[in-house]
Amino acid sequence: MLFSQGFGTRRECAARVQAGTVRIAGRVCTDPDEPVPTHGLVFSVDGREWSFHARALVLLHKPAGYECSTRPRHHPGVLSLLPLPLRQRGVQPVGRLDADTTGLLLLTDDGALLHRLTSPKHEVPKVYEVGTRHPVTPMQLEALRTGVVLDDDPRPARALAAEATGERALRLTITEGRYHQVKRMLAAVGNRVDALHRSAVGALALPLDLGPGQWRWVEPGALESPPSR
Ligand code: URA
Repeated sequence: MLFSQGFGTRRECAARVQAGTVRIAGRVCTDPDEPVPTHGLVFSVDGREWSFHARALVLLHKPAGYECSTRPRHHPGVLSLLPLPLRQRGVQPVGRLDADTTGLLLLTDDGALLHRLTSPKHEVPKVYEVGTRHPVTPMQLEALRTGVVLDDDPRPARALAAEATGERALRLTITEGRYHQVKRMLAAVGNRVDALHRSAVGALALPLDLGPGQWRWVEPGALESPPSR
């Protein structure tokens, strides 16, 4: 069980159990071969509590200054914000946010889910709060909704919704995830992104009580239910 949850090789997991550092449902477990029912299981390793997840899906409040790449080059990687067992079980970011973008980032070790959430076919809406260099005009909002052509791609990029939230701020909902898409869409309408924050993906909104750099589990199904905070 521990092995599936990212606590090292099978041998390392057995050694942890034999050393008495693992508690299952509150009681110290010393037999590495003890069969453990995993449904609803809560266990602890070195005093830290975990709940069993057959597949990992977590939500991270990405701070600025972190790269989503699994081989970061200029900044630390977002994976460094997660505990070792999650990294060891192979969670990966679902799509990418730029290093200077903040907000909701999902990570999972579930290949099928990763594919479903990133495939353009599934059109998962993503909501961005955008701060702009110049005032936002009704014409710009209209052009974003109708579709703009980005420099390397003749297919227009359309916003599902675009509404001003301040003189130099707008909320933009898009379903695709092309490279620097929001920044390039704003450039295409003659404005410029000064700040970018993702506040929702599908039905999941970034919880208001989750600070930058903090993460939490997402239960399967939460992506489909209506947004809640
Ligand atoms: N669009 C961008 O330009 N950057 C992001 O990080 C996300 C969407």
